[in-house]
Amino acid sequence: MAVNICGTGSYIPSHVMDNDGIAGLVDTSDQWIRERTGVKRRHIVDGETTVSMACEAGLQALRQADVAAEEIDLILVSTISSNVILPCAACEVQKRLRAVNATCFDLSAACTGFVLAYNTAAAYLAGGIYKTALVIGSESLSNLTNWKDRGTCILFGDGAGAAVLKADARRMYFPVTHSDGGKGGALTLKSRHDWNVLNAPVQGDERYNGDEFFMQMDGKAVFQFAVKKVPEVIRETLERNGVSQEEISWFLLHQANKRIVESVAKRLGEPIEKFPMNIQEYGNTSSASIPILLDEMNRRGALKKGQKLVMAGFGAGLTWGAALYEWI
Ligand code: ACO
Repeated sequence: MAVNICGTGSYIPSHVMDNDGIAGLVDTSDQWIRERTGVKRRHIVDGETTVSMACEAGLQALRQADVAAEEIDLILVSTISSNVILPCAACEVQKRLRAVNATCFDLSAACTGFVLAYNTAAAYLAGGIYKTALVIGSESLSNLTNWKDRGTCILFGDGAGAAVLKADARRMYFPVTHSDGGKGGALTLKSRHDWNVLNAPVQGDERYNGDEFFMQMDGKAVFQFAVKKVPEVIRETLERNGVSQEEISWFLLHQANKRIVESVAKRLGEPIEKFPMNIQEYGNTSSASIPILLDEMNRRGALKKGQKLVMAGFGAGLTWGAALYEWI
């Protein structure tokens, strides 16, 4: 039993912040950001929320799949930036879409999140537990970004992407995923929720504004991890499934840095044309980046029947993984 991606969708906030806008906040330049990351602009929520963007992307995917909301058995939202904790974002999506028959939960694995959410849904479908799933990656990273830190604020953006998956009788491809919590210090974000009645700061306490409540990153360490581990996990995934690298038409990588994508292409000995990119327009949207890319490719007709593609994510945790899919 395998899965069929029968619809995709995405939502991008209309408010754009270009590199000159960032250069107005921190000591940087359009040229530095473009050359070191590939990002030209990013879209920032202006009234939208992680849940509202997830709903828009999900609705688009359902329309394309011609699936009614009541047919969905499972809604999975991958996010690290939800505007709600209780109820979870997936339950909020269920309510707004009126997907009354769905089981709903969120998944938190940062930039590997969509690959893990896709794998989780695929396992439920392949196991015969559910028939139809809506998998969404949605992020409002601008709310978690320290706009005084030029090492991170140049990178991130907001958006959502979604896919409708159905159980399918074709061959199943096995994903390969890894985690290394020991290296988690390379990319951190502290929650304010570890304050209880005994240790909560009083009003005016400077702990309220601590940098640790925004994303903190050792950029070089994450970069080096990504360029080593992503080609490795792609090779591992192909080997596990007995598929040769030549059979792959597209490598959809998490959009973290243009230089990471270029380095992975080089290490795999593949032409860069097989690695679609949209980081120039959106920056790093964490778990939304792969489904947004997938939706854009799908809507412009770039994905042809029978083509095999690899989706590969990597990020905080540290976590990384890849999934293989044949387009139908
Ligand atoms: N503008 C101008 N200069 C800068 C900036 C900036 N925004 N940031 C750093 N610099 C300077 C540094 O101070 C340094 O100057 P120095 O040589 O005088 O000391 C120089 O530029 C080089 O700095 P590096 O940190 O070495 O720059 P690097 O080439 O590594 O690029 C970057 C930094 C873009 C952050 C890169 O390391 C990167 O993309 N890392 C990966 C991030 C990533 O992939 N994250 C994904 C996970 S996200 C998630 O899971 C939510």
